[in-house]
Amino acid sequence: MARGSMLLWIGAMAAALSPVTAAYGYGVADVVFHNGSIYTMATSSSTPSKVGAMAVRGGKITYVGSEKNIKAFIDKKTKVVNLQGRMAMPGLVDSHMHVLSGGLYLLKCDLSYQALGLEDVVKHIQGCIDGETGKGDADWVEVVNMDYPSLVEKSGAVGKLQLDKINTKRPVIIRSSDYHTILANSRALELSDITADTPDPANGKIGRLPGSKEPSGVLQDGASSLLAGPPTPSDEENLDAGRAALKLLREAGITTFQDAAAGESHHTIFDTIKKEGGLTSRAYFDYRIEAPSSLNKVSALVTDVVAKLADLHDRAKIGPKPTLKWQAVKAFVDGVITYPSNTAALIEPYWAPVHGSDDKWAPDPDSLNDPYWKPEILTKTLELLFLAGVDAQLHVDGDLAVRIGLDAAESFRKKHPRRSFKLGLAHDELSHQKDWARFAKLGVDPIVSYQWSQFSSFYLPDTFQSLAEYRLRNLQAWAKFEAAGRDLVYGSDWPIDPLDQFLALKVAVTRSGDPKNPNSPASQGPPYDGVFPGSGISRESALRSITINGARFLRADKEIGSLEVGKLADVIILEKNFFKVPEEALGRTRVLLTMVGGEVVYVVDGQKFGVKAKFPNSDKTTAKIARRSIGGFGAQGLSEDAKAAASKLRKRGECVHKH
Ligand SMILES: *[C@@H]1O[C@H](CO)[C@@H](O)[C@H](O)[C@H]1NC(C)=O
Repeated sequence: MARGSMLLWIGAMAAALSPVTAAYGYGVADVVFHNGSIYTMATSSSTPSKVGAMAVRGGKITYVGSEKNIKAFIDKKTKVVNLQGRMAMPGLVDSHMHVLSGGLYLLKCDLSYQALGLEDVVKHIQGCIDGETGKGDADWVEVVNMDYPSLVEKSGAVGKLQLDKINTKRPVIIRSSDYHTILANSRALELSDITADTPDPANGKIGRLPGSKEPSGVLQDGASSLLAGPPTPSDEENLDAGRAALKLLREAGITTFQDAAAGESHHTIFDTIKKEGGLTSRAYFDYRIEAPSSLNKVSALVTDVVAKLADLHDRAKIGPKPTLKWQAVKAFVDGVITYPSNTAALIEPYWAPVHGSDDKWAPDPDSLNDPYWKPEILTKTLELLFLAGVDAQLHVDGDLAVRIGLDAAESFRKKHPRRSFKLGLAHDELSHQKDWARFAKLGVDPIVSYQWSQFSSFYLPDTFQSLAEYRLRNLQAWAKFEAAGRDLVYGSDWPIDPLDQFLALKVAVTRSGDPKNPNSPASQGPPYDGVFPGSGISRESALRSITINGARFLRADKEIGSLEVGKLADVIILEKNFFKVPEEALGRTRVLLTMVGGEVVYVVDGQKFGVKAKFPNSDKTTAKIARRSIGGFGAQGLSEDAKAAASKLRKRGECVHKH
């Protein structure tokens, strides 16, 4: 035997004993990633937490390990992605968003959550209207993502009198980003027949002009249901919205999402997109249910839900190609803690301004809200659902709602100690210290939105006042759930907030916004650039909450959420290494490439990784989105501030260095 082949033979023997060998069985790779920092988020000790190279074949990961072994997976047909030292990680799992409304909002006249005064708001809407063709006087103008508190702070009371400055005969409404307030012009009120004689609905309020009963054009909560428009979106609009949302998700590196309040129309829309070949994110829909009026109606509700989910759910084991999963329900147990809504269910009263005083606040005994679900009805409903194999995500914002959710889990645990169940408690903005350790004890998943732990006009100063100093430690206390042993799961709640995952992850770590990111209220300067009370979590924990922990809640952690041999190749490449950048830069990184099930679905403009994305970065939909977001009509007439905000938004996160 020649010396050369002897060495080869010894090499082969060594390989047979090394972990690489197992991978050889998978053969030559379709794609390899190498020369980078690949963070695996692995759960098993056999996979290192950080490797230099990875191989993918048939949509699955066939090797994670060192650079020197990767050559064995490459032949002429293999696409080789040189990471040039960049960070790669598992695709993001966003466990709480509203994908369809998010998509619809992308296609509407969009104020982009920016702090704008009346003049800029009016000019922007005028630009949207003037830029639209083929619309008649009866067509509604729907404007979205308004920062209402900032608008009021900058320009005082805003209602129909101010909106009537927009030069149009069309009915105009503006939605605040928190969904609680709608502003309407005179035409919209007229068409809806909302007049001085219209009484307030039970669950909402019609704003009135000072000293009169005449509607002001400010509609709070349930009052918005009095509006005669805009009409519900057409099938075509819904499809456009779904496509636009998926495009944004690809760009954001979100390879799996959970829609937190879905109905059958979601299925029709996303199933059509799937058949077109455009479903580029793994879709999990939580079927929205409402509380039955009495205990004896629970079992009929559950029977109904179980039958519906059986129709919609794709029961097959998940594979490279994304599908539609319907394995959980969603219920709203309360409202929100933010002032003046104060609709969340609390254990102790909200505080309110003392009558006749501007700055003294005291407990308001009338402020306690009943939860939307009676505890015994919730407990029974969850029990029957869990026994039928259906999981649940609950909206629980106040400490009483959180407690009721945990109590329901405890009751199930006691009655059925051996049954597995998944219960996600979403938001948990206020939680009682006695409940922090119960998440771990009961195996309940907190699904939290970190971006609410930065100062914003929704909290400062009134929400803090109405929760009172003594409850500060209970506000956004998710780090305590983790400290007590329960991993966190992250959900963006988009479009309630901008879809900006790395800003949220930065807030998770630092509990402060990013003055250089226009999506962060900190960019407005003091007082929003301060540090929120309470503690954050490590960078590692933050990334786990948006990958493997989310996958675990979806019962998909054997297939996705980490980069390990045999798992699906859902991978993203980041512009900057999240573990290495200084804290102040954590909230500004771009996703450069997104791969779902081995298929590259997105590559950022200007980056060449030697692979092509399946979808173009600009198409008809993108053009529509760009025109309608703030400044998108050329920013004519906007103030310098608003122009600067628009320009920063367009460039958000972009690295200043040339590559
Ligand atoms: C690997 O990446 C580094 C940047 O981190 C680059 O300087 C180097 O040239 C790359 N090596 C190869 C073999 O491409």
